[in-house]
Amino acid sequence: MTTLTPILTARWGKPDSWRLNTYQADGGYKALAKALTMKPPELVDLIKSSGLRGRGGAGFPTGLKWSFLPAPDGGPRYLVVNADESEPGTCKDVPLMMADPHLLLEGIAITAYAIGCNHAFIYLRGEVVHVYRRLMRAVEEAKEAGLLGSGILGHEFDLTVTVHAGAGAYICGEETALLDSLEGKRGQPRLKPPFPAVEGLYARPTVVNNVETIASVPGILANGTSWFTSMGTEKSAGHGIFSLSGHVTRPGQYEAPFGITLRELLDMAGGIRQGHELKFWTPGGSSTPLLTAEHLDVPLDYESVVGAGSMLGTRALQIFDETTCVVRAVTRWMEFYAHESCGKCTPCREGTSWLSSTLQAIQAGRGRPADLEILADVSGSIIGKAFCPLGDGAPSSLTSSLKYFRSEYEDHVALGACPFDPAASTLTEEVAA
Ligand SMILES: Cc1cc2nc3c(=O)[nH]c(=O)nc-3n(C[C@H](O)[C@H](O)[C@H](O)COP(=O)(O)O)c2cc1C
Ligand code: SF4
Repeated sequence: MTTLTPILTARWGKPDSWRLNTYQADGGYKALAKALTMKPPELVDLIKSSGLRGRGGAGFPTGLKWSFLPAPDGGPRYLVVNADESEPGTCKDVPLMMADPHLLLEGIAITAYAIGCNHAFIYLRGEVVHVYRRLMRAVEEAKEAGLLGSGILGHEFDLTVTVHAGAGAYICGEETALLDSLEGKRGQPRLKPPFPAVEGLYARPTVVNNVETIASVPGILANGTSWFTSMGTEKSAGHGIFSLSGHVTRPGQYEAPFGITLRELLDMAGGIRQGHELKFWTPGGSSTPLLTAEHLDVPLDYESVVGAGSMLGTRALQIFDETTCVVRAVTRWMEFYAHESCGKCTPCREGTSWLSSTLQAIQAGRGRPADLEILADVSGSIIGKAFCPLGDGAPSSLTSSLKYFRSEYEDHVALGACPFDPAASTLTEEVAA
């Protein structure tokens, strides 16, 4: 069995894990000292050759993204850390920042130096006030120790880190909506190109990376690229946090090499809750198509999960046993997407509300046989036609559940109620009314 690789999560259980002296006692900020002796392009090449891919969902190669920045022109360049983390099921960045904020700050300092940036931002999901306070304190601690601010560790390198709390919108995790929100505008996606690397924050070259991506950088600097590529698969190198939630005996964060399987993770997590069996799961949050028990041995790397008909996304493994009504679960997710759709484009704005209300009707026992075709038809009008990936991801759980569990939808329609829990149908009907 593949074993766990606690690297990003190594300090989580330690007393005062968030303090600077705890981090430094473990060798913290030595990678930054090493980075500052190197030339910025060498660092970009190092991250390129490590094969590190963005941990925010899309898996874009990190070093390549950094290399897209145009040559310095004397003006500002920015690093923006995406800490919005609002996708249902995704819950890795918040505990990382809470337990080990200096790991992120060291990654920020190295990345900023590599891309020639003197002002970095952390865009944090607004609801997590405790994390906001912790990050602010960690920034202060690092400044007092000369690890941020002017002349870092005696080098000609200055860096200011601003922690910004958003107002709690899922769309503000999309990188260009995030940049608009950070600029004080309403958070809605921008037309691409231009990409943020060319015209990002305040129309200046900007790198946007996920918390876990940036937190992976110090380890690569400290231990080298062969250490990193010795974990994971050829195209999905390294380690990552797999978040198990739902009907699992021991839900939580399991850090492991890419390519581990759900079967192996479940073995470590004590299995599906006692007396029950796996029905369906999401490999990477609610915007990734559902998989079933037949996919337990699919290696959890980007390529294999796509091959199985889904996406690895943020490795948010939400597990559901046979007691779960798939129609109810999909209805809940669709209500989320209808609520979070920013309204900028018609397919997503109109489509997600239609899907949500049609699903609510089916779940409440008011569905008609034709509704199943309507669901498929409206999904087809969103996928590939929406302005940003929120729209494309919204129908994922629906279309995949129609593929694997169509008879459950038909049963709701035929019975005029939810076969799993008729009482719950009444509840949904009240909400829908
Ligand atoms: C609706 C939506 C929400 C997103 N939310 C997040 C998020 O909370 N955190 C994140 O890192 N990326 C999120 N992304 C992906 C970002 O747009 C972007 O790809 C990512 O921050 C890039 O970082 P990475 O290359 O390190 O993965 C979201 C994308 C979409 C479409
Ligand atoms: S797909 Fe949805 S979230 Fe994205 S721009 Fe269109 S309305 Fe907004």
